[in-house]
Amino acid sequence: MAENLVITDKGDKESVYKEIIPQLKSLIGHEHDLIANLANISAVLKEAFGFFWVGFYLLKDDQLVLGPFQGPIACTRINFGKGVCGAAWEQHQTIIVDDVNKFPGHIACSSLSLSEIVVPFYFEGKFVGVLDVDSDKTASFDEIDSKYLNQICQLIFDF
Ligand code: SME
Repeated sequence: MAENLVITDKGDKESVYKEIIPQLKSLIGHEHDLIANLANISAVLKEAFGFFWVGFYLLKDDQLVLGPFQGPIACTRINFGKGVCGAAWEQHQTIIVDDVNKFPGHIACSSLSLSEIVVPFYFEGKFVGVLDVDSDKTASFDEIDSKYLNQICQLIFDF
């Protein structure tokens, strides 16, 4: 396992994603513990991009419950269809929010969070949880983030 994350090219975010994905594969590819892997994915994304908040919510007893994350404290439980996370769970799709203050029902864990992307992920076709990334700037996320964050979510159970 690599001891340090190596990011040589910070020129554009696509190159950063391309550089961290192989490192994530070697970091989590031989580890079967879900929490350990989600913790390291959160740490890698936080270090690589400096996101305001990055972490996971996991389906437990019909609610999304806070899992491994990096950033300020966050709300612990989210119901089906509620907030951006609950909407991504309900719709089974990645949701990008350019301005969280314009998203009906957005759950504000921090007033400093201004834009957000939420990616649902699955194991053997069953919904497991979501990856949630928040930015303290508006419109931080686009189709590039969606593409690579979805690829990263597909690594979670790729052992
Ligand atoms: N804003 C999210 C809640 C989770 S926090 O951003 C960490 C939502 O609306 O679902």
